[in-house]
Amino acid sequence: MNTFTLGISRKQVLEMIPEQAIHKIHVGELVVALVRIAEDFHAFQADCPHRGTSLFQGSIINQNEIICPLHEYRFDFKTGQVKAGSCGNLEVYPTELTEEGLKIFLSPE
Ligand code: FES
Repeated sequence: MNTFTLGISRKQVLEMIPEQAIHKIHVGELVVALVRIAEDFHAFQADCPHRGTSLFQGSIINQNEIICPLHEYRFDFKTGQVKAGSCGNLEVYPTELTEEGLKIFLSPE
């Protein structure tokens, strides 16, 4: 599993990433979406599993769901589960906030 570290400290990450917004993180060729809820960070695929629309223009609801802007399918960004709509689940990437920064554990290539 590939691990990417964002930032250089816990404090810096918390200052750099505001809550309730969808942040774009470039990890090499991969673009990952990142949402912060309090001190929990959730990383997931940036394009909708339905038709590939960018989720950066999506909406966050209920502290755990993102709504795709195109057909309004809903996904739980903590588990990846599709909550409304008929398509595959969202790919999610585990994260861990450490004193060295935010670790994002990416799937193997
Ligand atoms: S492209 Fe996202 S719901 Fe259709």
